[in-house]
Amino acid sequence: MERILIVGGAGYIGSHVQKQLLDEGFHVIVYDDLSSGDIINVLPGADFVKASILDKSALKDVMSSGIDAVIHLAAKKAVGESMINPSLYAENNISGSLNILNAMVENNVKNIVFSSSAAVYGMPQYCPIDENHPISPINYYGYTKFAIEENMNWFSQLGKLNYAALRYFNAVGYDASGAIRGKERNPQNLLPIIMEVATGKREKLSIFGNDYDTPDGTCIRDYIHVSDLAKAHSLALKYLMNKKQSLTVNLGTGMGTSVKEIVDATEKIIGKKLNYDFAPRRPGDPAKLTANAHLAQKLLNWSPDYTCIEDIIQTVWNLEL
Ligand code: UD1
Repeated sequence: MERILIVGGAGYIGSHVQKQLLDEGFHVIVYDDLSSGDIINVLPGADFVKASILDKSALKDVMSSGIDAVIHLAAKKAVGESMINPSLYAENNISGSLNILNAMVENNVKNIVFSSSAAVYGMPQYCPIDENHPISPINYYGYTKFAIEENMNWFSQLGKLNYAALRYFNAVGYDASGAIRGKERNPQNLLPIIMEVATGKREKLSIFGNDYDTPDGTCIRDYIHVSDLAKAHSLALKYLMNKKQSLTVNLGTGMGTSVKEIVDATEKIIGKKLNYDFAPRRPGDPAKLTANAHLAQKLLNWSPDYTCIEDIIQTVWNLEL
């Protein structure tokens, strides 16, 4: 069976990708420095290398061990932090990713699936956003993702490798069987914050803005279940290995859910009120961001299994029960 290197495989999305590939019988090697990932996310059956993507010699060692494809999800992802400390993002997200590409080329590893983001588009000019939407990131985090897409594109044109750039919208949820239990430390995203409020770890949720041009005034996002994302990684991997062609696709459900709707749905699931207030808008937040993911459906034959936000939130709440 093919040997797949999952860089960042102990992280939130990486661990779900790991589970998907193990379930399908792939040989999985998780490479992670555990800076934000968690060792409990390394599943039985996976090999584990604890190292950083800034460590070129560790990358070289693992790439020379006979790797058929790389899935790269190791990155810093706090949008606000990227605007305050861009060097951290330049180092980890750009230099670290270039180290991976260079180690692949040096060892003749031909396929990479890359964790990109809807943040490459910047402020939406129309919604749902398709892959032809202009690229114009409004935060440095989004820029780092696009910088790596461009590099992969060059490497691909120069015949060095094939890539799948997967532009995620808002990843949420947990594996429904409960196999992944590692929670992110110091979460910055909406649903993990809501869960901290629900369990009393955090006093309250601040909803950033209730005066947007949306039906209830709060921002609308496209929340996609992480197990659906994981499935797309496996399909992208097979596309690369079989077709030997590169691709760039959005991954989202196409459905928009507002912050208030997420709060209301969570209250129903947990059976109690959440403590929240309305705070000023967060700079750089578009009112509405949803995906047109028809290309992923067409090229990868992918579609999300989870289409109901309550079902998605339930998989997160299950971790607390
Ligand atoms: C952003 C990025 C996304 C990235 C993700 C990872 C953009 C356009 N999107 O998503 O690419 O992968 O971060 O961190 O840059 N909210 C509150 N209160 C809170 C937290 C969030 O009201 O305490 C609201 C936000 O205003 C937003 C929604 O919840 O409307 C989701 O926010 P968040 O989870 O931070 O993700 P995005 O900012 O949408």
